[in-house]
Amino acid sequence: MKVAVLGFGTVGVGVYEMLQSTTGLEPGPVLVRPGKDNEPFKVSSLDVILNDPTVDAVAEVMGGIEPAFTYVSSALRAGKHAVTSNKALVALHGTELQALARENHVAFLFSAACGGAVPFLHNISAAVPSDRIKSLGGILNGTTNYMLDSMQRRGMDYADALKDAQRLGYAEADPTADVSGLDALRKIMLACAVAYDVLPDEGLLCEGIENFTADDVKDLKKRGLTCRLLASGGRNADDSIYAYVEPVLFQASAPECSVLMNFNMAKYDGQNSGKIVLMGQGAGRYPTASAVLRDLTDIRGGKKNMIKTSCVRGSANNEGCAHRYYVRVPAEVSSEFPGEAGETENGFCRFVTNPLSVAFMHKTVAKLRMNGCSIFFAAMDEE
Ligand code: HSE
Repeated sequence: MKVAVLGFGTVGVGVYEMLQSTTGLEPGPVLVRPGKDNEPFKVSSLDVILNDPTVDAVAEVMGGIEPAFTYVSSALRAGKHAVTSNKALVALHGTELQALARENHVAFLFSAACGGAVPFLHNISAAVPSDRIKSLGGILNGTTNYMLDSMQRRGMDYADALKDAQRLGYAEADPTADVSGLDALRKIMLACAVAYDVLPDEGLLCEGIENFTADDVKDLKKRGLTCRLLASGGRNADDSIYAYVEPVLFQASAPECSVLMNFNMAKYDGQNSGKIVLMGQGAGRYPTASAVLRDLTDIRGGKKNMIKTSCVRGSANNEGCAHRYYVRVPAEVSSEFPGEAGETENGFCRFVTNPLSVAFMHKTVAKLRMNGCSIFFAAMDEE
């Protein structure tokens, strides 16, 4: 199967290299920006790829919505299979692209868009026909895990940790998507689409690590807690779907504390399988390229899709999820959070709240931040 590569950045270079040594696959042309087609295998016009009958599939690894959406749509219409590592694209247009693939009798797979090398969507999609997925999620962003680990284990400051993650090729072109939690949120949207036939795009809640400081690190260390950024999704008792991202604090004995550097830990809980945990590198050139190649190999084996035609866009309902939260808030607003506020230091209170709904917590913090309050919060792991 000949595969054209759309994009030649961190992941594209890895995909192109790996295509040269993977049985049953061979590299086709690589699409680059006009003026960058300075080697024989590079082209700057998509039409060259679309009109090449020897190209069977495209691997979209350029990122962003446009021109990625137009290119992938055109490739599917031209009868080429498509795989992508682009979370933003699938979160926004996944259901349309899957429908287009079906109409054109070609495959559309995107397991590289969630978890880097970790075969998360791949396994959920394999489990869905015979099991009921009760919940799913985990540490799904390599950049923030690298940053949190660097800040807590190596005493690095936030800005240096982010610079390092960018240098190592973990971060998105605009790392705001990583640190704000949006990248992890897109990944949990995709996981819900695969597991539940619903791509939630409303009612989602998202808190990243942008408010995590060296003082927070110091206080958590005293309490024996480690912070990780977690994405959570699942079915509520009324069959609606919950989906949110927030920092979570773990006791030293929790497996999440041993997820270091750019690693991810993805989990799902199947009614029959019980809990399944998958761990591996969640970002970076070869880890992500390995997932692209895995999808291409799956296509060779006859796999056509990861989401069904019946998959619809829907709303997440986070009202029913509740846990205790650790908060660092200005003393004057501490009463907004039910719990024992305790002592004030430098104008801030740090304490653990009573159990609160995820929706209440995120909305209350958003309201206080509009008034200029600086707040860090993280859920207490209570598994
Ligand atoms: N920026 C992403 C991450 C890349 O850090 O996880 C892999 O999806």
